[in-house]
Parts: sequence; structure tokens; C-alpha cells
Amino acid sequence: MKILGLSGTVYHDASAALVVDGKLVAAAEEERFVRDKHAKGRFPVEAAKFCLRHAGLDPREVDAVALPYAPIPITSPARWHYAWRHWYAPDRALDALLNGNRRFRRNVRKARAWMAEVGIDPRRTRLVPVEHHLAHASSAYHLSGFREKTAILSLDGKGEYATTFLGYGENGRIHPLKEFYDPDSLGGLYGAMTEYLGFEMLDGEFKVMGMAPYGDAAKYDLSPLIDYDGQGFRVNNRLVNVVGLRRYKENGKGYFFSPKLVEWLGPKRAGDEIDHPYVHYAAALQKQLEEVCLGLVRHYCGDLIRETGRICMAGGVALNVKLNQRIVALPGVKELFIQPAAGDAGTALGAATWLAMESGDAVEPMRHAYLGPAYSSDECLAACTAHPARPRRERLADAPAKGAELLAQGHPLAWFQGRMEFGPRALGNRSILGDPSAPGIADTINAQIKYRERWRPFCPSLLDRAARDILQTDHPAPYMTITFDVAEHWKRRIPEVVHKDGTARAQVVTRETNPRYYRLIEELEKRRGVPVVLNTSLNRRGEPMVCSPQDALDMFFGSDLRYLIMEDILVTKP
Ligand SMILES: [Fe+2]
Repeated sequence: MKILGLSGTVYHDASAALVVDGKLVAAAEEERFVRDKHAKGRFPVEAAKFCLRHAGLDPREVDAVALPYAPIPITSPARWHYAWRHWYAPDRALDALLNGNRRFRRNVRKARAWMAEVGIDPRRTRLVPVEHHLAHASSAYHLSGFREKTAILSLDGKGEYATTFLGYGENGRIHPLKEFYDPDSLGGLYGAMTEYLGFEMLDGEFKVMGMAPYGDAAKYDLSPLIDYDGQGFRVNNRLVNVVGLRRYKENGKGYFFSPKLVEWLGPKRAGDEIDHPYVHYAAALQKQLEEVCLGLVRHYCGDLIRETGRICMAGGVALNVKLNQRIVALPGVKELFIQPAAGDAGTALGAATWLAMESGDAVEPMRHAYLGPAYSSDECLAACTAHPARPRRERLADAPAKGAELLAQGHPLAWFQGRMEFGPRALGNRSILGDPSAPGIADTINAQIKYRERWRPFCPSLLDRAARDILQTDHPAPYMTITFDVAEHWKRRIPEVVHKDGTARAQVVTRETNPRYYRLIEELEKRRGVPVVLNTSLNRRGEPMVCSPQDALDMFFGSDLRYLIMEDILVTKP
């Protein structure tokens, strides 16, 4: 079966993924092609065209399209729960009961129009709806490669109505154990507080998490935000996850928290600095998220974890690397797999893999996240020739060695190679790199390009053979989705990639999955003695990650970076 999965059904993070006979062939986010972060309100036209082009498929050869959004019957508790909990906004409550699949119907209309635009005949090709959290769950479980019974967690803001899914996978099938429904959403609570803390929802959650270690979680009691009794939780929707008239408004914009929250905690935070009391709120919020999630995992999945130790996870909250570190540390957990595009982009993958399994295809485990487009050195040269900045360029005989030489001299380096990553993390193919042992390199990168908050951590990519010594664990870490405690004797050697709390969100690189990047780190090790490189994504603040050589050149000439290597081509500025 040739199945094209799409996402974009919850308004953001449109993406496409192509699964052919159970093999994940290509996947990409629409934002990278249209250069609009999160591609809000779009469907993945360019991403789908890329997937088909990459596989050499005519759109008419696609057997089915999988849509990660499904109709929810009136008999489902989801709609009744939503209506009951939104009694204060009667239009929403009634809508959930009387017209509860309005969004689904709109998604189907949009999907059919999208199919026609991509060249897939909507009258001849099946469009198969898959429940949103089932798609998240499938993206984690079916791609994990776990054969044993596996606990599955999916946590996000909201799909159709569900916000949280706990279940397990066995023999290729997914069994739900418990679901929670909107407005009782951990992702929604964290997102609303992200807005209160002065960041954008869907993006700023990482910043709240990065800010948390600077605060003291014990300083403020945020327990009024959520009522948690050990097996279930209820978000206080007088304070957060609010709709309609309960929303706090500022300059004509409505937020997901209420004026009551502002009365309680003080004015909404503004600016870029880590300041009091907000830094303590971030710490308390992060702790609250961890405690509730761990409690739910213990309650619903404790037996499964004791039985096999396997657990997998997706949904936006699965990108909370600190939470993930604590899940890994739970007694009995042997391995946690987090699908790297855990946010909504990954539902394209999940819907497609779910349909593949239902159709009898055996889904192959995910081996890496390099699923996007690649460009040859000649294409990179052609982009240089066409670029208005008239780049100074030369062809390199050994790009990884030259890259390492520049890094060892203390320069940040824009590094572009191979297929673009799927998911929010740069994993060495669209990255800005630095020498993590060079004091001040993080500040230099911030000054030259990232312009991000100074307190946000940079992360390391490190060689697999050194991982145990540096991270003190053998747990797999291919996708930068988990933080680990850095060993004391390494903290001084790679200070630029160790966070305030002594952890690092590491990527462990293997020669098999990325030989060229592996060699670059080896070459840096020869020169500087550390098998580690600082790795941050190749983009400017507020922009999506670079996709093509043209994007790389645009970004390069819009920054103060001096060196860019695209495949074998070195571009320099005077
Ligand atoms: Fe989601």
C-alpha cells in the first residue's frame, strides 16, 4: 500500500508523510517549504509534492490518504464532557452536542481540495480518518520497533476532543486504557501558562522549560491550576484553558488564561530576561507537569512497565525533555521511545502507519529522522550562482575536516548536508555548529545569528562511543528528546552545552545513521579533544529551519555568520 498521511487538521504544523508497503519513505513539514513557521492554517501541499517526487510516484498511484482527525459520535463521553465543562460558554457547549463534527467535516473538505491540488483524484482514492490521538499513539508505537507489550502515552493540547491518551500496544494493535478530554489538558495548561509567561503557545513551551531550572519550584504553590487525585485530573478552567468571555485580553488579543489568573499571579510577563517571580512560576509549572504525568504513568501503565519496561510517547508534551528524563528514571523503565516529530507534524506519520497496519502491511521501525529533501553539491553551487549576494565559494576536497578546522578556530559554522530532518530538532543536517569547549561560543552564536534569549541552553551532538562516559547511561538518544545528567568530569570540558541544572539535551550520533556528521565530530575531537559538537538549528529566530540551499544562503547573508558549508561547497564572507 502507498499511503500518504497529512497533518494540518488542528490548524498548525501541516506536514506530509509517505509510507510505502510499511516503510517510511519521506516526511516533511510544510513550514520548511513555504517559509512560515508552523504553517498555521495550511494544508501540506508542497510537503506532499516533495514526498511523491522523492519516491518517484505519480499522485495517481497513491492508494489512500490518511487524515489524523476523525468524527466523534454523540455517544462518546468526549463531547458530553466538553459540553459539561464549557457550560459557561453555552455556544461552545451546544455546538459540541448538536454539531460536534463540524471541524471534521471542514477537514474533509479541505483534505479533498488538497488531494486535487496535489494531483490525487479524490473520487478514486480513499480518504481514511484516524482519531487524532490514535495517530499520535501509532506514530510512537508502530515506529518504536518494540516487539514486547509497550505502554503508550500521547499528550497534547487537544485533538478532536481528547487531550491525553494512555494505552498499550501489543502484537501491532493499540489498546486504549484511559483518555482525558478538553478542557482537561496538560498541554493546554502548559500552553496557557506559556502565554502568561510572555511566549507564544506552540513555540514558547521549550522556553518555559529552559527557564524552569533558574527558578525555585517551592517558592509558589501553583496547585490551584489543576486538581489531581492520583488517577485523574481536572484543569481549573476559571484560570487556564479558558474560552470566550473568560479570556484575558490585551491590545485586542485574547489569551488562554483568565483575568483571574492575572489577579492571582500578577501581570503577564514581558521581555526577554529571566526575572522574578516568573522564573519561579516556570519552575513550579514544570514540576507540576512532571508530577501529574508521572503519576498518570504509574497509575495506568505501572504494571506494563514492570512487565516489559517499554514505553513510547508522542504528542506535543512528549517534546518536554525534562519530563522525559524523569520517565526514563522511573523504576523498571528499560527504554523510552519518543517519535522525534512528536508534535502535530507527526500525526501525518501516525495516521499513515496506523492505516498501513490496518491494511496488513508490517511497519518498519524508524531508523532516523532524515526524511526530507537533499541537494547535491552542484545544486548548491547553482544556488550560489543564482543568489543576488554573489557568494564567494569554493569546492572542498574534505568538507567534514574543513568544517572541524573552522570550529576548532572558534568560529560558528552553518552546516548543511543530506536530507532535511523531520521534527523540530536539527540533527546535524541543517545545523549551526560550534566547539562546545570554547568558552563564549554560545554567546557568539547568539550574537551572530540566533538572537535568542541568553539563558536558553544549547545542545550537544556526541559520538556514540563517548555517550556512556558523558551522559552516564546507555539509553538511546538519537533525536534530542531527552535530557541526561552530564558527568561531573565532563561539565568543565564542554561548558557551552551543559544547562544550568547540569543536564544536556543530547543527540547521540552513530556512524550508521549519519556517517558524514560523525566524521565531522571525529575531526573536531582530533583537534580539540572533545567528541562533542554544539548543535543548534539552522535558522534565524522566528523562522523555520532552512530547507534548500537558497534558504541557507538567504539566512547566511541575513546574519553575521562568516562560514557556511553546503555539501562540498564552502561559502565565506570577507
Ligand atoms: Fe496533537
